[in-house]
Amino acid sequence: MFSLKTVGLLAAVIIRTQALQVKRDTPRSDLTYKPNYFNQKINHFPENGLPYANTTFTQRYYVDSSYYKPGGPVYLYIGGETSGPSRFSNLQSGIIQILMEATNGLGVILENRYYGESYPFKTSTTDELTFLTTAQTIADNSYFAQNAVFPGVDPNLTAPGTPWILYGGSLAGAQTAFSVKQHGDVLYGGIASSAPVEVVVGYPEWYSPIQKYAPQGCVMRINNIVDNFDMLIAKNLSTAVNEFKALFGLEVLTDHRDFAAAIADPIGNPGSYHSNTWQELNWNSSYGSRDFFYFCGNVSDIDAPEEITRVDYALSNYTNGMPWTGLGSYANYIKTYTLPLCASGDYNSNGDCFGTQNQSYWEDTTNSESRSYVYTSCTEQGAYIDAPKEGPSLLSRVVDTSYEQQWCTWAFPDGKYNKVPPSPDISVYNSFGGFNITADRLAFIDGDQDVWNGLCYHSPLAPPRTQTSDLHPELFITGAGHHWDSAGILDVEAEPQFIREAHLWEIRTVKKWLRDFDAWKHGKGIRRH
Ligand SMILES: *[C@@H]1O[C@H](CO)[C@@H](O)[C@H](O)[C@H]1NC(C)=O
Ligand SMILES: *[C@@H]1O[C@H](CO)[C@@H](O)[C@H](O)[C@H]1NC(C)=O
Ligand SMILES: *[C@@H]1O[C@H](CO)[C@@H](O)[C@H](O)[C@H]1NC(C)=O
Ligand SMILES: *[C@@H]1O[C@H](CO)[C@@H](O)[C@H](O)[C@H]1NC(C)=O
Ligand SMILES: *[C@@H]1O[C@H](CO)[C@@H](O)[C@H](O)[C@H]1NC(C)=O
Ligand SMILES: *[C@@H]1O[C@H](CO)[C@@H](O)[C@H](O)[C@H]1NC(C)=O
Ligand SMILES: *[C@@H]1O[C@H](CO)[C@@H](O)[C@H](O)[C@H]1NC(C)=O
Ligand SMILES: *[C@@H]1O[C@H](CO)[C@@H](O)[C@H](O)[C@H]1NC(C)=O
Repeated sequence: MFSLKTVGLLAAVIIRTQALQVKRDTPRSDLTYKPNYFNQKINHFPENGLPYANTTFTQRYYVDSSYYKPGGPVYLYIGGETSGPSRFSNLQSGIIQILMEATNGLGVILENRYYGESYPFKTSTTDELTFLTTAQTIADNSYFAQNAVFPGVDPNLTAPGTPWILYGGSLAGAQTAFSVKQHGDVLYGGIASSAPVEVVVGYPEWYSPIQKYAPQGCVMRINNIVDNFDMLIAKNLSTAVNEFKALFGLEVLTDHRDFAAAIADPIGNPGSYHSNTWQELNWNSSYGSRDFFYFCGNVSDIDAPEEITRVDYALSNYTNGMPWTGLGSYANYIKTYTLPLCASGDYNSNGDCFGTQNQSYWEDTTNSESRSYVYTSCTEQGAYIDAPKEGPSLLSRVVDTSYEQQWCTWAFPDGKYNKVPPSPDISVYNSFGGFNITADRLAFIDGDQDVWNGLCYHSPLAPPRTQTSDLHPELFITGAGHHWDSAGILDVEAEPQFIREAHLWEIRTVKKWLRDFDAWKHGKGIRRH
């Protein structure tokens, strides 16, 4: 249910976590974590003249001390754009468990401001969202590290007296990198996994790994169907466009972009999405979903019955009699498996289904994770998924960045002291260095199959990575998707080779850093490179 309202970078995590909680049956999964509450500053930068300079809110956090022994480090799992509890798997059996076990560490999940139960305000008006910025979020991590209290754990484990090592995947990975870069005098190190470190406003490259690595028969069929649909649109053949929509049971979606997004749902819907996509694949199916491959199996099914393959000819009059190969199977898959994900059956409704054009829906100021995430996209992050400007496409070209920008304009009317820019101001986000970002004891780990890799340290657009060192380590995993190193199975040696070696690399990296901690602590103030 939660994933229905999920946008962009987020959903993989949520779906994986739900699957984990249901399917795992090892003792550590019985661990429950009680919430703790930290008095966090609303505004870390009173000099900005904004209100709430001396006010705090309660920020929720969770602690796992089951491996802790005196002298061990603190691992801060950055919550990112979701609730603390949806990250529990990382303490139970994922990367934090792996690192805690290897180093007698203590694990903490700090919930991001404006997510879960860590809202500074009762609603989320434009003004109330003023303090949801990258700078405030990473300042939370530093202030928390300097003042955190861990109930039942002795002694004082605050930073910088104790080594604090951050880990985050996806947006939380970028926040990890930015925190270590900005607050490296407090935070000893961090591992940024699949971290989008350099953003752009429109991000059609989201589809690139799918275009390149997914089963090519399926990809080509979708590409051709998208080309044909776009041809109908370009020629303004409205009768044919409506016939096409009706084949998918979606004639009610009068906005072509909503329709295009809906039929892209199993591949990647640029807004909220309902299906498990390429992003939700995982090396272990307990932590992900195989649905994308089932979808492709359907689209390229060579044994589809005649009543389905017949549909390939429904619009062949518009393509000189040539069938739209796979159209029947594609439409049948959407009707059978995708539309039922909209429980109300009101396909054009906003939020729960495929419509996005109801302005009042966007104006609703109720606190929600999707609203917070959209706000960040609109202000600093961008990364709106749209159709590629050239080359084959898995998403109709009717979707450009104005589709998502419209939501920003509807959702966040000007407030008294805050307004969202007409287009995301990505310069703030990229000011940490973009692809050039570097900081001591900041590690980057990415996967070449990741839909977000185009924004990550190992993006094809980034400089070649030839300067790796113990202080600036990096690993690019062939065959891995979106922060696939986050999940573990409580036995690193039993993992598939590429994940096992990534985890061993992370353990080694952190252990090397910890050896130097005393020297760092005593020599603080001296910058070493
Ligand atoms: C915040 O507290 C400081 C120090 O106590 C004080 O000087 C300042 O005026 C306060 N600011 C506001 C906006 O209340
Ligand atoms: C922990 O130690 C630091 C540095 O010595 C100190 O500033 C802080 O007040 C201590 N915190 C607690 C909860 O004792
Ligand atoms: C497209 O067709 C519709 C309905 O037939 C018509 O109202 C509209 O003006 C046409 N648009 C263009 C750009 O030709
Ligand atoms: C079609 O998708 C369904 C639902 O995921 C799946 O059970 C089935 O195996 C798929 N069919 C093919 C031919 O891949
Ligand atoms: C295609 O065009 C032919 C000739 O105009 C017509 O008889 C036929 O009904 C059309 N088929 C479809 C599916 O519209
Ligand atoms: C638009 O959204 C508002 C607020 O969510 C809702 O009350 C209203 O019924 C919606 N309108 C339509 C036409 O769906
Ligand atoms: C990264 O470094 C390269 C080479 O020095 C430079 O051309 C580029 O502008 C830098 N990018 C950013 C985002 O700072
Ligand atoms: C996948 O994860 C489950 C649950 O942790 C585990 O039982 C299973 O052995 C794992 N499979 C593989 C191939 O790693």
